[in-house]
Amino acid sequence: MTNSKIVLVTGASSGIGEAVATRLAGEGHHVVAGARREDRLAALVERGAGRISARRLDVTDRVDVAAFVEDAVAVHGRIDVVVDNAGVMPLSRLDAGLVDEWDRMIDVNVRGLLHGIAAALPVFQRQGGGHFVTVASIGAHEVVPTAAVYSGTKFAAWAITEGLRLEVDPSIRVTTVSPGVVESELADSISDPTAARAMRSYRAEAIPPDAIARAVSYAIGEPPDVDVNEIIVRPSRQR
Ligand SMILES: NC(=O)c1ccc[n+]([C@@H]2O[C@H](COP(=O)([O-])OP(=O)(O)OC[C@H]3O[C@@H](n4cnc5c(N)ncnc54)[C@H](OP(=O)(O)O)[C@@H]3O)[C@@H](O)[C@H]2O)c1
Repeated sequence: MTNSKIVLVTGASSGIGEAVATRLAGEGHHVVAGARREDRLAALVERGAGRISARRLDVTDRVDVAAFVEDAVAVHGRIDVVVDNAGVMPLSRLDAGLVDEWDRMIDVNVRGLLHGIAAALPVFQRQGGGHFVTVASIGAHEVVPTAAVYSGTKFAAWAITEGLRLEVDPSIRVTTVSPGVVESELADSISDPTAARAMRSYRAEAIPPDAIARAVSYAIGEPPDVDVNEIIVRPSRQR
């Protein structure tokens, strides 16, 4: 592969992040994977045939995210792509009052994204190039009952990423990928029994996470003068 990139992926220990790391490493890029579950990361590195390295990362901790980016720059001399993918989705109706879960969604899905941008933007500016990929959601485009806060965080992720695109130099590319229902562990974080029951049938028609990884691969594989800004990938049967 001639155009091998250094790609940082947050939330790479399962689901979409793991699939993105696996696909991009298989395509000849070097992936730096971050998440909290180190046993999962170790298994990913093992499968990565030398093309995946990993570091424990909590995206809610600004200092930790800065160190994740700085370490990658120190080891590789540059970074080319940051995939801000880490996310949680403990759905519930607002009247269930699960305020701690609202806070966690804001901390991971919004603050985590901002921490990634804060850490990598100066590096991309210094380098004269780079690519941000935000994994948002179909929830960035529509709201359903139980998803008020989750969608709020994903609308925010969409807006922050679009604002970033408008502000940065054209040498920095910006992509939002919005998945529909994808097989992963995401729904495991739902503690509210009503929301969990509703999700079981909603999520019955899920597509494999590699479908999202292919979209990321497409966006980063385009030449520097082409900026793929928005991709929605959902199951054909999803309405
Ligand atoms: N699956 C879907 O249907 C779907 C649809 C639309 C959008 N999405 C979005 O896709 C992204 C990935 O989700 P997924 O579906 O792949 O679910 P998943 O399998 O649950 O993966 C979520 C990832 O986020 C990481 N994470 C959670 N909290 C974190 C923290 N504080 N710091 C660092 N990493 C953290 C988890 O790793 P650790 O627990 O090891 O830290 C895990 O690797 C999320 O942003 C989600 O909102 C998914």
